[in-house]
Formats: sequence, C-alpha cells, structure tokens
Amino acid sequence: MSRKRTAILISGRGTNMGALISAAMAPSYPAEISLVLSNRPDAKGLERAAEFNIPTAIVDHKDFSGDREAFERQVNAVLKMHNIELVALAGFMRILTPFLVDAWTNRMINIHPALLPSFKGLATHERAIDEGVKLHGATVHYVSSEMDDGPIIIQGAVPVLDADTPDTLAARVLGVEHKIYPKALELVASGKAKVTGARVTSGESADDTAALVWP
Ligand code: GAR
Repeated sequence: MSRKRTAILISGRGTNMGALISAAMAPSYPAEISLVLSNRPDAKGLERAAEFNIPTAIVDHKDFSGDREAFERQVNAVLKMHNIELVALAGFMRILTPFLVDAWTNRMINIHPALLPSFKGLATHERAIDEGVKLHGATVHYVSSEMDDGPIIIQGAVPVLDADTPDTLAARVLGVEHKIYPKALELVASGKAKVTGARVTSGESADDTAALVWP
C-alpha cells in the first residue's frame, strides 16, 4: 500500500495537527504526514512538527500585500515541491480563493469546530451557547469554494452543559476533533470516502449506532 503524501496547513498551536501526526505513526495508516506548512512564522505547531522531524514550511501571507491568489500560488508551489497528494487544513485561518480550492478538489479537507451547516465562521462556541443548542460538535469536510462548506466526511457531537462557557465548550469539542480528524483522513487517504454531490459515503459506520440524546 502506498501511503498518501499529506500536508497539514496550520496557523496556530496545532493540536489537530498533533492528532494527525500521532495517527500517521501507525505503519498501516494510509496517509503519511510529509509537510506542515504555516502562514504564520510564529505558529506554535511548527515547533511541534519539527520535534517529530516533519519538514516544515512558512508562506507568510503578509509578504503578498493582500494578494490572496499570489499567496496561494506560493503555497501551491511548495505543496508541489513536496509531491503532496492530500491537504488537511487544521486551524488554517485564511479564506481560500477558487485558485487553491479548484487545484485540490476532493483532495483538500478541513476541520470546523461546529456541526455544519450550523455556525460557519468564527466564535462558534460562543454562538452555540447564545443560541441555546443542546448538542454542538465538530465537522470534517472536503473544502469547496464557499467557506466552511463542502461534502461532510464525519461529524462528532458533544453535549452543551448549563454551566458551559465558550472555553469549557471549546475544550470538549476539541476532544472530539482529535478523534474525528484522524478517522476522516484515514477514510480519504484509503480511498474509502466517495463523494456524490453533497454526500460522502464510506461504507463505514460507528461501532455504537445508539442515538446521542442530550440531556
Ligand atoms: C480548531 O478548533 C479547529 O477546528 C479550528 O481552529 C482550531 C485550531 O486548533 N478551525 C477553524 O475554526 C477553521 N474554521 P489547533 O491549532 O489546536 O488544531
């Protein structure tokens, strides 16, 4: 089996990146993490990636004076240079133009801290509390030209507790992110995930199919 050469794109601390790197340490995992690229030179995740001896790259968006496509052309050139086959966005806080999205159709995935299509954009945990939802969570999806949109590969839900603050809820959701992102990358890299329109099928189901009901 050839493992898919995968790049992780980050902007910050990189805990999801860490979860993907850990999963990919298993020889049977269908993706290998071949590059970690950040748009921010000070991203903490870069240090963590280097500790794992994973090649890192910085493409600083500030060097492109607001020209998003020029920034993305450079990102794409670095991905090509490393013979990357799949891209996983993990807290990569840049809005993408059709240039990069079209170059990686069905080969670029993203994790978003909400049960899409609810709560696209920022401050998802605060908004979930404000709206009074009882279940919140995270979604891994293929990237499409609309922000936080695209065929959904996997979702994980957590309860919203009465005492939750955005921080406590974020921590609970992050726990589920670290579980679902490695699973999603596995489904994509193995070729099990099949996209038909907005739907992704993988032939897989959760071990426990009991409904999650809260409270
Ligand atoms: C994660 O919660 C991820 O879902 C979110 O940023 C955080 C990055 O944390 N992504 C987005 O909001 C993208 N719309 P991490 O750097 O520790 O993985």
